[in-house]
Amino acid sequence: MTHPVIEGDDVRLRPTTPTDFAIAARLFRDPGFYDRWGGSPKTDEEIAEKYLGARSPLVECFFVEVDGEVVGFTQYHDADDGGEGGGMDLVLLPSSRGRGIGTAVVHAVVRFIREEKGWRRFTVDPDVDNERGVNFWKKVGFVSQRVVEDDGDRVPYWLLSWPMAE
Ligand SMILES: CC(C)(COP(=O)(O)OP(=O)(O)OC[C@H]1O[C@@H](n2cnc3c(N)ncnc32)[C@H](O)[C@@H]1OP(=O)(O)O)[C@@H](O)C(=O)NCCC(=O)NCCS
Repeated sequence: MTHPVIEGDDVRLRPTTPTDFAIAARLFRDPGFYDRWGGSPKTDEEIAEKYLGARSPLVECFFVEVDGEVVGFTQYHDADDGGEGGGMDLVLLPSSRGRGIGTAVVHAVVRFIREEKGWRRFTVDPDVDNERGVNFWKKVGFVSQRVVEDDGDRVPYWLLSWPMAE
């Protein structure tokens, strides 16, 4: 089943499909974009396997569109712990940062996972050395839980959660 488009405040989150390879490749091979998404350009195989909907419904992938232009990518993922929660990731092209688009994306995704999926927990996990990213998630409303330093090969990261009670 196709995921619905998620409409936000002047942003539109359009589910990616296998026909979107060229658009995804443009994003995931732009150094300013992948700098905070793994640090290296993505291969054809990785783009097809990870970012074009093949992992749905565990991971739902979207292009961030503003005025019909693709300016970024976001995904939300099921924590796979009984269907009550999950998390999200977000990256915008450098030229589209600092204009409130990220905030609008988060608000739209949070509304969707609460109202349509009924999730009760929602987290993000930026690397500790990504100060701008950590600052963004806090500013938009996520609350710091703890630094995780023992998650396999991952560098230390912050776990932040959305205050669901509010
Ligand atoms: C992080 C990111 C998604 C934020 O989106 P954005 O549209 O630029 O953010 P907004 O314009 O909505 O900013 C919201 C707040 O976040 C903070 N913020 C955003 N970018 C920031 C930066 N470069 N440095 C410091 N704070 C920043 C600010 O406090 C800002 O509030 P203000 O406008 O009142 O000052 C975007 O900058 C990005 O794609 N960065 C690279 C990828 C990344 O780090 N993703 C998150 C970690 S997984």
